[in-house]
Amino acid sequence: MPYFVVVLGTAGSGKTSLTSALYTYLTSHQLDAAIINLDPAVEEIPYDPDIDVRDYVDAREVMRKTGLGPNGALIASIDMLISNIQELQDLVDSLKANYILIDTPGQMELFAFRDTGSIVLRSLIGNAKAVSLYLMDSVHMTRSSNIFSSLLLAASTYVRLGYPQVNVLTKTDLLGDGVLEELLNMFEDPEALASMIVNDREASMIWGETEVSQLLEKLLVFDIVPVSNTAGEGFDSLYAAIQRVLAGGEDYL
Ligand code: GTP
Repeated sequence: MPYFVVVLGTAGSGKTSLTSALYTYLTSHQLDAAIINLDPAVEEIPYDPDIDVRDYVDAREVMRKTGLGPNGALIASIDMLISNIQELQDLVDSLKANYILIDTPGQMELFAFRDTGSIVLRSLIGNAKAVSLYLMDSVHMTRSSNIFSSLLLAASTYVRLGYPQVNVLTKTDLLGDGVLEELLNMFEDPEALASMIVNDREASMIWGETEVSQLLEKLLVFDIVPVSNTAGEGFDSLYAAIQRVLAGGEDYL
């Protein structure tokens, strides 16, 4: 049975780029990989998908035909996918790959918070083992309150989908000298991070430092792996984190 890797994250966090870079990493290490594009609205993708939902639904056409706006059309497109789900399942079953990467739409609420997204994922993945990669854009990690809300969103994705999860800090090449190290240190020190969050003047906080620190300890149970998709950095660590989840650490490389 293949392993599924579901790539999730807010708009522009680097899902498509990471899917492409991870595919290149796996195949260059002689591992069979396949890609499913589940984004019906994407225009250009840097990889050649083995399964592409745009062959079944085209969010732009849905927009034209229904008069819905971009968000509404995307939601309607994913709803429509359900009627093609058996065909998609058959296609997935015919894929010969060790790893099947699933690239999801920019509007992550579709997959993380609405029923249809998780129904589609569950239908495609079935009983196979899966890991969610939740992408957090480094560029938005400049304030402690942003870090906190990203970690909360990451946790709610886990709660909603239920697959073991690895949080991935993307675009690390855009961070200035020493900033990545500072960020990683913060993730190691929930008390210090809690103090920064509570004292962030632009954030609304109903909890005190102790409560935030306790919450952070729970939110930080997932691995956080820094990567740069453009520089191709961090993929050895990402692969190791994926293997820890999927194969109990067993290494196929
Ligand atoms: P949506 O599907 O629209 O939500 O986007 P996405 O999450 O798939 O992100 P995508 O891969 O399209 O990347 C968004 C932008 O970030 C693009 O301009 C990418 O070139 C850029 N980008 C992605 N990963 C990296 C990275 O590691 N470093 C840098 N510098 N830019 C990146």
